Amino acid sequence: MNYIGSKLSLLEFLEESINKVVKKDCNVFCDLFAGTGAVGSYFKRKGYKVISNDIQYYSYVLNRHYIKNHQPLEFKKLFDVVNGLEKSSVSDRSILVVEYLNNLKGQKGFIFNNYCLGGTKNKAEQRMYFSDENGAKCDAIRKKIEEWNSASLINGNEYYFLLASLVESIDKYANTASVYGAFLKQLKKSAQKLMVLQPAELIINEQDHEVYNEDINSVIGKIKGDILYLDPPYNQRQYATNYHVLETIAKYDKPKVHGKTGLRDYSKQKSLYCSRNQVKKSFKDLIDNAKVKYIFLSYNNEGLMSADDIKEIMGARGKYGVFTKEYSRFKADKNREYKAEKTVEYLHYVVCR
Ligand SMILES: C[S@@+](CC[C@H](N)C(=O)[O-])C[C@H]1O[C@@H](n2cnc3c(N)ncnc32)[C@H](O)[C@@H]1O
Repeated sequence: MNYIGSKLSLLEFLEESINKVVKKDCNVFCDLFAGTGAVGSYFKRKGYKVISNDIQYYSYVLNRHYIKNHQPLEFKKLFDVVNGLEKSSVSDRSILVVEYLNNLKGQKGFIFNNYCLGGTKNKAEQRMYFSDENGAKCDAIRKKIEEWNSASLINGNEYYFLLASLVESIDKYANTASVYGAFLKQLKKSAQKLMVLQPAELIINEQDHEVYNEDINSVIGKIKGDILYLDPPYNQRQYATNYHVLETIAKYDKPKVHGKTGLRDYSKQKSLYCSRNQVKKSFKDLIDNAKVKYIFLSYNNEGLMSADDIKEIMGARGKYGVFTKEYSRFKADKNREYKAEKTVEYLHYVVCR
């Protein structure tokens, strides 16, 4: 997923830098501002036990699958529903179930009625986040996943695999410049195509993983690990508003939505890491309470905290250091001019005493 602050293109830099600092005795990697789960997934592939967390529910859905699911999914209770499932190999079953969902007829549900032109044309606000066909297809798939879950035809692991597949797939057909803070006036090319639900990748690994959906400052008191990786928001833009449509697809809780963009209430998901006045206090509280051997923090030179603030707070826990890398800026709007094409990405670290 094209996600603000995604570390997909920095994974090798992260790994190389981390390996220069940590000793070989580390098994538990904590990724507590997990977003898409790209970092946790990478270290899960390297054999670590991963503890993941994010305040957003769509992110929980992604991580609940990419991180926590670590054994093949059997879909045993869908044998009577999906043709050919019982006779297929376990590794093919996810593909068959996804194919079944792909063939469902579209239904006019919450997404169609609030985020597509066909469903909003007679309302006060018209919205076009998806084509009518994709909105209705998304509704049909989302409802079926919930129906199967309520009828206990799928277990928790299978449920989150299917939800993660839907969140990842529908995002590719969104009619936005990149985030959900606004939609485009005309359907762009990729949004005109009919959504194809793709199975989310399953990462097999022998360890039991943990995934949370909480504010990081409350999770930190509950967990213990070796390496803590932190990738907070860098600026005032809340993820809750930038990805509100994905949040609603993931939760499918039919919230009250309002305004031009159909925003849901996000008062409980406002991140203090996006607040100039509160970020330092929250960050200090987080660092002070972490029960780990090493802490790494990704941040850039345009973030709300200065490098000196970070050094002071992290340095209080032990031996501090920093790695840097030039990085191409994330462009939420490809037509807008940005101050600089490149930003400097910092990886601050501390070896805890
Ligand atoms: C820079 S992004 C992380 C990107 C991630 N490393 C990736 O590669 O996809 C920051 C994430 O922190 C989450 N977040 C913000 N404030 C939070 C908080 N107080 N507690 C937990 N998660 C939070 C956001 O929802 C967002 O997904």
